[in-house]
Amino acid sequence: MNLYEMLHRDHEKVKSLFDQLEATGEDQESRRETLFAHLFRELDVHSQAEEKFFYSQLRSEDETRELTLESIDEHKMVKRLLGELEAMDKGTPEWTAKCRTLRENVEEHVEMEEQELFPMAQRVLEDEEAAGIAEDIDSFKEEHAELESY
Ligand SMILES: [Fe+2]
Repeated sequence: MNLYEMLHRDHEKVKSLFDQLEATGEDQESRRETLFAHLFRELDVHSQAEEKFFYSQLRSEDETRELTLESIDEHKMVKRLLGELEAMDKGTPEWTAKCRTLRENVEEHVEMEEQELFPMAQRVLEDEEAAGIAEDIDSFKEEHAELESY
């Protein structure tokens, strides 16, 4: 699996978590808490890994700089929404609405990455560099998983 397939697989995982969350009602607070905790971790690790190993390289290239900076801003917005959702009571219509806003933000960002940023990155990065980034992301995720199990 190459770097782009790996990131796409993460995006699919997030999509499925949103589907599961949207299928819950406001009376299923504890199920929402479990699913949201999973979604939070998934998005957090994914965007940290992207920023640390992938965006860091793309922002030093002329062709990808602007779009990368835009991506970083979008990550910030997603992070802010995640924080707000975490602090709110999950069994309310306000939470349901904000979760939908988060989903819209995430899906717009994912579409931009997959339609625009990844094709540009494929032109700018050598296959070998992309493979190195994929390895770094993999070990970052493993480290993170270990830390979380303590
Ligand atoms: Fe991503």
